[in-house]
Amino acid sequence: MLKRNLAELSVADGKLYRDAMARYAGHVQLVTTAHAGARRGVAVTAACSVSDSPPTVLVCLNHNNEKNQIFFESGVFALNSLAAHHQPLSHAFSGLENLSMEERFAQGNWETLVTGAPALVDAIATYDCRIVKLVPHATHTIMIGEVAALRLGGHEPALVYMDRSYRTL
Ligand SMILES: Cc1cc2nc3c(=O)[nH]c(=O)nc-3n(C[C@H](O)[C@H](O)[C@H](O)COP(=O)(O)O)c2cc1C
Repeated sequence: MLKRNLAELSVADGKLYRDAMARYAGHVQLVTTAHAGARRGVAVTAACSVSDSPPTVLVCLNHNNEKNQIFFESGVFALNSLAAHHQPLSHAFSGLENLSMEERFAQGNWETLVTGAPALVDAIATYDCRIVKLVPHATHTIMIGEVAALRLGGHEPALVYMDRSYRTL
């Protein structure tokens, strides 16, 4: 049994990798930006802290999706950490219903902090960032952002994605 697992691990198998990553429990966040009169938001789990000195976060975005170029052009993003009650908002921003950006943003209340990126008013936390580095690798670009402004929301249960479905923590 152990041998079989090791053999599987040695194969560069995208499906096996995706099945393994499905077991990763990730806090769902909305990464947003605004540029040249347009807004965009994307539901992500590939985002985390880099450093507290200076406060810095990273987000991995699929650059094969042409629509994500606006993030790299704007030079700013806001990372909005979602609460359990934001599940419909996450669904809208995951592109599964093919809604326009206006329809997606209409499902939440937004304002701006310092950079001009849309900040979700009732997020658990919002990290308003200036991009300091873009690191393209394979299908994704790692956006490293220094936190220009930060807003803390309430202490609420977090929206988590694991085993290809939403959970609450
Ligand atoms: C739970 C969840 C997590 C996701 N995490 C990421 C991520 O970390 N990075 C990414 O580029 N896309 C991620 N996606 C996919 C994007 O949300 C999706 O491709 C995008 O919203 C499609 O937008 P579009 O229809 O405007 O092209 C995730 C989707 C879901 C449902």
